[in-house]
Order: sequence, then C-alpha cells, then structure tokens
Amino acid sequence: MIIASLYPCPFDVQDRHEFNASILNGEQVFSYEEGKVTTVKNDGTSKFPERTLMLGFKELGITPDQVEKWVFPTPKSQIKLKDYHTFFSWFFKAYTGTLDDFERWFYEHVEFVDHQLSHASLAAYGSGFSECAFLCMDGGGDFGDPRGYVFGDFVNNKFNVKFEATGVNTIANFHSLLTDSLGFSGDDNGKTSGLASYGEVQPDLKKEISKLISITKEGGATFDRKRFSQTQVNLAKIRADSYDRTKIFSQYPSDTNMLRFGIEYLPHDIAATGEQILQESVLKLVELLREETESKNIVFSGGLFQNVALNKALLDAGFDNVYFPSGPSDSGLSLGAALHVKNRSNWKPAEVLSAFIGPSFSSTEIEEVLVRHRLVYTSCSDITKVVAKKLSEGASVGWFQGKAEFGPRSLGARSLVADPRDIRSKEKINQLLKKRDWFMPYAPSILEEECSNWVEQEHYSPYMQVAFNMKSTMVDKVPSAVHVDGTSRVHSVRKSENSLYWELINEFKKLTGIPVLLNTSFNRHGIATISTPRQAVEHLLEGCMDYLAIGDYLVAFKDNRLVASRSDEIEPEDLLLKLGSIKRLEVFKAHGTDDQMASYLTKLSSLIGESVEFAESRMISFNNTKFDIDSAQEAISSSVRG
Ligand SMILES: [Fe+2]
Repeated sequence: MIIASLYPCPFDVQDRHEFNASILNGEQVFSYEEGKVTTVKNDGTSKFPERTLMLGFKELGITPDQVEKWVFPTPKSQIKLKDYHTFFSWFFKAYTGTLDDFERWFYEHVEFVDHQLSHASLAAYGSGFSECAFLCMDGGGDFGDPRGYVFGDFVNNKFNVKFEATGVNTIANFHSLLTDSLGFSGDDNGKTSGLASYGEVQPDLKKEISKLISITKEGGATFDRKRFSQTQVNLAKIRADSYDRTKIFSQYPSDTNMLRFGIEYLPHDIAATGEQILQESVLKLVELLREETESKNIVFSGGLFQNVALNKALLDAGFDNVYFPSGPSDSGLSLGAALHVKNRSNWKPAEVLSAFIGPSFSSTEIEEVLVRHRLVYTSCSDITKVVAKKLSEGASVGWFQGKAEFGPRSLGARSLVADPRDIRSKEKINQLLKKRDWFMPYAPSILEEECSNWVEQEHYSPYMQVAFNMKSTMVDKVPSAVHVDGTSRVHSVRKSENSLYWELINEFKKLTGIPVLLNTSFNRHGIATISTPRQAVEHLLEGCMDYLAIGDYLVAFKDNRLVASRSDEIEPEDLLLKLGSIKRLEVFKAHGTDDQMASYLTKLSSLIGESVEFAESRMISFNNTKFDIDSAQEAISSSVRG
C-alpha cells in the first residue's frame, strides 16, 4: 500500500511549525522537513509542505494518483469537502473523478490520526521493540488533540493509554518559558541546554520555581506558568534570506513569572537551575509511571525529548531499553501518522528506523550544478581517503552524500565535518564559519564498534539525540567534540546504516588513530540544514568550509574564491561568557526593580572581576563614572576585552 502523509493538512487554520511530509511504499520510506528545502527554519510559512511531498514522489518514483491512503496527523475540522476536492484534483491529480463521486472517494482514501498517537507511533514503530511503554510530552498537541501528556503501553500492536492530560502548563512549556526568559526565542530550547553547562544551580532560585511544579501520574509534570503581557512583533529579527518566524513574532525576554524569578541571576546560572528542575521533574514522573507498566522498554516522543541532556538522564530511569525517535518533535508527525496507518492491522517488529530517508541527487544532477557555477573541481575514485587526509591536516569539509537524513541532527549525509583533536576546529566553525552561539556544543560521530571505548553509557545512538559522559581518559583526545561539562552528544555510526560515512571515519582513524569526527549541521547561521547541491555550493562559496565533498567530487574554497582577508581572530570562551552576562543587563531596560538590578550587578562584578555597582534607577556606576544601561554595556565590555 502506498501512503502519503502531510503535516499540517492543507486547510489547517491553526498556527503550525516544522512542516513535513512522508511517503511509504511497501518497505520504502521517505520523510523530510519542508524547512530544509525552503531553508526557512521551522518552516511554517507556506500553505503545506508541497515541495517536500513532491521530492518524495520523485525519490520513490511514484505519482500522487498511485497513493491509496492520504494521512493527516491533524484533526478533521470544519473543512469543506469542496476544498479538499480542489486540493486532490487540481494540485496533485490524485483524484480524477467527478465532484459528485468525491465524497465516497474521500472517506475511502483520506484518514486523520491524532497528534499524540502520531508521536507515539513514530517512536514505537521506529524503535524495533516488539512491545514497550510510551511517554509523549510536548507543548500541548493541537486543537483536535489538545493533550500535552500521554502515557501508556504498546502491546500486541495496540496503543493502550493509561494516563493523559490536556492544558498548556506542561513541563515542556516550562522549558520554553525558561528559554524565553534568557532572551532566546522560545523554540530555541537547545540554547538553554547548551548554556546550562557553564552555570551553577542556584538553590534559592530552584526552591522558588519548584513551588510551582507539580508531578502526578494523572496529570504528568506541569508548571504553573504566568505571562503578564504580550510582546510585540520584533521587526529587527526579520531577515529576508534567513527567515525564522519564531524569532519574529515575539520579543524576548517576555514578561513571565519565569523571567521575574530569575531576573537577579546570571543567565548561565538560570539555565543550569532550570535544566536541573526539568530533569528531576521528568525523572520523578517516569519513576511513578514505571510502576504502571510491565514493560522493560520505553520510548519517548514529543518535542520535549529533543533535549539531549534530559534524554541522558532518562537512560537511567529504570528501563532496560530506551528509544528516542529521530524526529521527536512535530517534524516527525507525518511519518508517525503514516507508520500508524501502515502498521496498525499487520506489523512485525523490524530494525531501528533508518534516518537516511530524505531526498538524494544523482551524479549528473550534482555535476550540472558544479558546471553551472563554473567551479574548479576534481572527481575522486576514493573520496573517503582524500577527505580523511584533508581533515587530518586541519581542513573543514562539507560532506554531502546520498539520501539526506531526516530529523534535527546532521548524521553524515548533509554534515560539516572536521578534526576533533584540535580545539580550534570547534572555535573556527563556531565563530568564523557558522557564527552561532559560542556555548552551543559540537558533537562527535564515532564508529559504532568503537563507542564503548569512548563513552561511559552503553546505548546505540543513531540520531544524536542523547548526551553521554565521555570517558575521562578520552576527553583530551577530542577536545572540540566534548562539551564543557564533559558530556558529548554522540552519534554512533553503523556501517550498514551509512557505509560511506563509516568509511570516511575509518580512513581518518587509519591516519590518526582516532575513530571520531567532529560533526555539525551543514548550514550557515540562521537557516535550516541544507538539502540540495546548489545550497551546498553556495555555502562553500560563502566561505563556510575549506572543501566541499559532494558525491565523488571535491571542490576547494581556495580554488574558487579569492578573498582579500579572512580574520583568524577567535575570542576565548571565558570572555564570551562574561560578554553574554554583560549583554544581559538589557533586561533591566524593561523589567525588574532597582534592588534586583543591584543584586545582578553584584553577581556580574564577581564574574568579571571588576567593580560594577548600582548607581540610581537604571544607571550603573563603573570606573567612577555613571552610565545608562547601553553605555555601561559598552564600557564594561570594552574593559573586559582588555
Ligand atoms: Fe507535538
């Protein structure tokens, strides 16, 4: 049976993000995110993921009229059949009959699967487990399925829900509010987790916030959140060629109880405290739920489980086997819904679901792009050997091979790779090439056979969804791929899953003795991970890497661009931590009391080792001069830079 699934459905009126489409044809699977095709992060700007869907039809060599089931992981709402008729007949030629006969066709060929059932299905069917418990947690489903918490077990191919709850005060939204309070877009939760590793848990802050957390089997984990005012559209964040709607529709931080709790504290300490509360809350909930299932296996799904530090804690939640899907957030809904319809009446457990289910490009298509850009390039019969050598010499390489990976992490199909032995690899990519926040960790890809030598926990991690403790003896060998807290978001590379990438790492190992590569997503700052050869070439020409290895072709930046100068100046992390805390003074322009500002300045003084004091309302005393907040930021920053 051929199944096509779209998230969201074409006439869904609710605000959506992370558009995605999937097609199943027997054992063939295609799934991909629209944002990677349009380059728009968390794409929710188009009507529905049309481009991704059509790429899927091309990839699998089928046409829309061959589809037997169209599946929407969204509620059937008050949509007129006439509109669906236009969609199925006009756009995709999937329906070729008359309007009169359309209603019969519609009910035979179109299905809707609940939001949380789609999350659970992706996890259960993707895990390879024959039975398991499942826990889905996110910001609150959608209008048709407003649950943000569902727990149950999956036995004999049936999903039995034991507990569920609706409402928006979920612990997932606590984390979004925490992220917002730090000045990041509420969807940039990963930044909070990255920053947390630099901070220290503040007991008083933890005590205050914890009073509003409640944890029960029936209701899940919730936080009594309060938002005191709506923020305005942030015009400064609108950029035509790196459009990120989540950053545009609000200004951060917004006035919430989370902001008010943390206002006196340094940003990295707020992050550390919030992360610990999150982890302890979810762990406590899972411990309660463990008594409710016989299963030794558990799968986690929903946007909350994109948090790699939380996932690390959940490895020790008392289950023998744990699985996090490749797309736990709403980016996995179309695939989850499609798998549900495919498997619900006839299913046998199979291998763990592959992540390499996105679009691919032929050699001819790739070479056409290289020729069109008039690039100098070479064709290599041994691309893995050639690239491994370049990497061992310190080059950064864009690695574009085969079918793209589905999910939020780059897994060796659209990756930017570098030598993990040199700390400068991370700094170079971070500050000169990707220009992303300095505190965001980079991850290593490790040959699966070698993982146990490097990582303390035993867990196959094909999608890079879990942080691990690196063995202390190994940390110094790959400093650029280990986070400041000694953890690492390891990607286990299985030969049968991605043999070319496995070969690349193996060749690197032959040269250096290290079976590890630094692996980060193939995208410049502000856009989604790339998917096409043209996007890859544009990144090379922009200077995002030294080489591009695309198919069998190797293209060097230096052979194709002359640059007047390229700054090699890199700022150390401890300086960046101080600068970030000085920047945080901005929060007092619109929020907080004088006392809170004075308290913050005391902490800032101790961090930067210079005296900064409260002078009078919204004024700061530094070096015997009184400054307003903007001028103070400038003066203190320039002083700590030296
Ligand atoms: Fe969701």
